[in-house]
Amino acid sequence: MASCTTAILGTGSYAPAKVLTNDDLAQIVDTSDDWILSRTGIRERRLADPGETTSDMAARAAATALADAGLLPAAIDAVIVATMTPDMPMPSTACFVQHKLGIPDHAACFDLNAACSGFLYALDTACALVESGRYRHALVIGAEKISTVLDWQDRTTCVLFGDAAGAVIIGRSARPDAGFLGCNLNANGSVAEILCIPGGGSKLPVSADLLASRQQFIKMKGREVFKIAVRAMEESAREILEQHQLRPDQISCVIPHQANLRIIELIAEYLGIPLDRFFINLDRYGNTSAASIPLALDEARRAGRVRAGDLVLMTAFGAGLTYGSALIRL
Ligand code: ACO
Repeated sequence: MASCTTAILGTGSYAPAKVLTNDDLAQIVDTSDDWILSRTGIRERRLADPGETTSDMAARAAATALADAGLLPAAIDAVIVATMTPDMPMPSTACFVQHKLGIPDHAACFDLNAACSGFLYALDTACALVESGRYRHALVIGAEKISTVLDWQDRTTCVLFGDAAGAVIIGRSARPDAGFLGCNLNANGSVAEILCIPGGGSKLPVSADLLASRQQFIKMKGREVFKIAVRAMEESAREILEQHQLRPDQISCVIPHQANLRIIELIAEYLGIPLDRFFINLDRYGNTSAASIPLALDEARRAGRVRAGDLVLMTAFGAGLTYGSALIRL
């Protein structure tokens, strides 16, 4: 079993104030509260203001996490932002966050894109940095202004997502019972194009034709993603439990990526973990991509659903298709 001395020292989250309900969406596209709720479990989601950037949301979540950990910005020596909706293609959103929080120049700052699995990829990276002994405290953020890459004419995707940010501080814990146990990260690039933003990169650079054909927005084969996601999360969760010789009933709380209630219900059934041990907040936020797990973790902590010493399983999937699971004792 991996060392347990690297741990989550604090959590924070931020969601914009503006709420977009399913009824509001029915004014924009041909949909209904009944369809969205029954197919996904989502009731409403948050939308960032036009002037509010991914780094603004990230910095607010991070400031809360720093306060929760009792640390000053100067204590941070790595900032990793998991996002697929950066402020700009270049430089990284992490550099904007560093500046907004007053984190000193000695910190390494970079973004990481694993779509909705991004937070687990960033968490594992941060834990490795801290375990190496070369970094004391890493700030790990999942943040998305996903409303900017949604096609508000496409009812099959625009109803699913929302904007938000979540953050954790990784460092050495004085508590020997707290710690990061491990993470498995996976990807299946052979199905990369079933969930993608086709335009805006080197393959299809921005052009008038690209914008006219709406290739700058998320495209998704929802049914295919659904099937792969359920199997991928189940397999990776099962694998990490086996690696650590843990039974499902030893898990205090599962924090799954919040994409679709039906996906979560199936994972609960296949893993044999009762649904009431899953923390679910997608009804209020929709799928916030890389922000979903840290937002849920922070809410679960603040609501008393998870406490110090609890064994928490996190599991995610996202475009790539990427997927993975992590085990942490709070
Ligand atoms: N309102 C009303 N009707 C709709 C809507 C909508 N918002 N969207 C689709 N429909 C219609 C379709 O047009 C279709 O109509 P038809 O039968 O006349 O052709 C019908 O509803 C059924 O459509 P399906 O796509 O088959 O519906 P399904 O039950 O599969 O649910 C959904 C769709 C919710 C997208 C589901 O497939 C899903 O959740 N997939 C996983 C998606 C996901 O989690 N993506 C996040 C990935 S994470 C990341 O990295 C971004």
